[in-house]
Amino acid sequence: MTSDQVAEQRELEAARIRVDELRTQIRYHDHRYYTLSQPEIGDTQYDLLLRELRDLEARFPDLVTPDSPTQRVSGEATVEFTGVQHREPMLSLGNVFNADELAAWYARAVRRIEREDLRFVCEPKIDGLAISLVYEGGRFVQGATRGDGFRGEDITANLRTLRAIPLVLNAPPESLPRAFEVRGEVYMSKTEFERLNEERRLAGEQLYMNPRNTAAGSLRQLDPKITAARRLDLFIYQLGWVEGHRPVDAHSDAMSWLGGLGLPTNPLTQTFGSIEEVAGFCEGWVEQRDALEYGIDGVVIKIDDYNAQRELGVVGREPRWAIAWKFPAEQAVTRLRQIEVSVGRTGVLTPFAALEPVFVGGANVSLATLHNLDHIHELDIRAGDDVIVQRAGDVIPQVVAPVLSRREGREADLVPFEMPSTCPVCGGEVRRNENEAAYYCMNRRCPAQLSRGVEHFASRGAMDIEGFGEKMAFQLVDTLRPDSALHYIETLADIYSLPALRDELLTIPRIGEKKLDALFANIEGSKQQPLSRLLVAITIRHVGSETARALAGHFGTMSALREAALEDLQAVNDIGPIVAESVYDFVRDSENAALLDRLAIAGVRMDEGRVAARGGVLDGLSIVVTGSFAIRPRSELEELIKSLGGKVSGAVSKKTSFVVSGEGGGSKRDKAETLGVEIIDEQELFDRLRGFGWTDAPA
Ligand code: IVH
Repeated sequence: MTSDQVAEQRELEAARIRVDELRTQIRYHDHRYYTLSQPEIGDTQYDLLLRELRDLEARFPDLVTPDSPTQRVSGEATVEFTGVQHREPMLSLGNVFNADELAAWYARAVRRIEREDLRFVCEPKIDGLAISLVYEGGRFVQGATRGDGFRGEDITANLRTLRAIPLVLNAPPESLPRAFEVRGEVYMSKTEFERLNEERRLAGEQLYMNPRNTAAGSLRQLDPKITAARRLDLFIYQLGWVEGHRPVDAHSDAMSWLGGLGLPTNPLTQTFGSIEEVAGFCEGWVEQRDALEYGIDGVVIKIDDYNAQRELGVVGREPRWAIAWKFPAEQAVTRLRQIEVSVGRTGVLTPFAALEPVFVGGANVSLATLHNLDHIHELDIRAGDDVIVQRAGDVIPQVVAPVLSRREGREADLVPFEMPSTCPVCGGEVRRNENEAAYYCMNRRCPAQLSRGVEHFASRGAMDIEGFGEKMAFQLVDTLRPDSALHYIETLADIYSLPALRDELLTIPRIGEKKLDALFANIEGSKQQPLSRLLVAITIRHVGSETARALAGHFGTMSALREAALEDLQAVNDIGPIVAESVYDFVRDSENAALLDRLAIAGVRMDEGRVAARGGVLDGLSIVVTGSFAIRPRSELEELIKSLGGKVSGAVSKKTSFVVSGEGGGSKRDKAETLGVEIIDEQELFDRLRGFGWTDAPA
């Protein structure tokens, strides 16, 4: 290899490690945000992660996989709901923030279609969840989430519980198109949100963060009774596809028509003939938004005439005929009481702000993110400062800057922030690693690290032990056993000893019998997780879910992995010297070795499963799956390929081994043809697998 090639390979490896890390982090934060409604990081931090991932994928297209968080718009597909393909994609909107940007958007549209007689419909931009409703013969037959814009989830049963959705339209079926779709935004009113939280406060349960996340969580309940109890609301904002003749020529007419059929449309909608009037309308809302019964984060402006809309078309995922005027994030000034420091699973210290409570962006805020140490130093944020706090829509509040003028007379009391020299939780030594910005607590027995580690071990992408959340993890790491100097959990392996301590555990406050037995059942079940999950669970540096799959696919068993020489590890597809060394060192560390032994003795499965253990018949192949399929859904095909050692890639390149194309394979198919990459169909894939001796293929 030339030195250039070596450098290139190292660069690719570093990118692969980072991509894997970023995806693992993003999925974790998605889960906290969308499913648990308990985000841990702010909007900006999340966007930075996503942007970094996007940039890396743009530079290294081979690293793009279909399940990368960049490949969907938002939300996690819950396995239990069935997927729904949207007949027409559900689009996003571009943003403007002021009258000049709005005027520029308008000018572009005018230039494009050479028309100036445009009318604009302005609607509040509801801060909720986009949904699609299908009516057939005047009856509501299917409701779906937006999902990634192309494919959502079937939540018909849940949507039926919304009073705002008419199950039968207010018109004789023969007067209606046979079938059509409408789109709108489901939201939770502020009053309902307060009521729900009051109920939770009384029950001693953790409070919800904000109406939007709560509405999201409520819609994705598997039990429609729960959705019903949450009293969600809805505004329709668009007529989607129509079978047969479209009954109207303009958006405003569509809205009146739908309103007449009994669908809820927003009464605050207004139509204007000039873009200046539109700007005035938008500016007027900034002051009034708080008076509304629901959260809005801007105004949506749509060109009314359907012909104009059609001519303008779509660029990327955004229509050129509509734009969102976004409100500035709400800000307030409050006193920064303390800069506190939290400790993560790998020991990283993260500073955050403890504030004098202040009402901003529709919620009381007492904690806020400070991003990172550089942010604190650059802006010179100090404990005791009055600071500007910002909260945009549904995200974690952020400290924007200190108000320096308010320091006057107190300068001597306000000292610049320094990272603590010992861990704020365990008192252990704190060190800054060379070449790294982060500070770490070096004590491996630090309870904060351990409880985060336990939480991660039990999390969905790892051993998936439901009922083992943050609170339970902390409690068991923090509580001493009776007559013992030991805590219930001192290492990850102790999780599997918990069932033997049932009676003792029942003496701990707030741990009930039912909850505990359910937890034990889940702990027991987790023993069957394949090796790849276990490798994610035990927190090996640089090993995220993709690397874990590659390792498990290659070695098949934990003992093979533990015995592997450094060169063996490097020989694994997609694994380079940095990851190889990290894994090599991990399994040779005596404490880790003891942990792995104990897990094995506890009965945790230490292999990847029958097929992959044979090495994986698709080992080393990079495969792209595109379109929709008849025998198995695409997601299953992709899982299957991965389980057989293949790599599923989201982009076709010269390195692609072959493309499995279904109905509507579109641009990827074209690209494969151009590059001369082989294209096969689903049946051919199964035939080939059978040819390899794989026996589970459907006939
Ligand atoms: S129109 C092609 N109208 O905003 C037009 N969207 O950023 C697509 N939203 O996914 C959307 N209120 O969830 C439209 N009055 C409104 C809206 C609205 C809220 C949401 C919707 C969409 C997102 C786009």
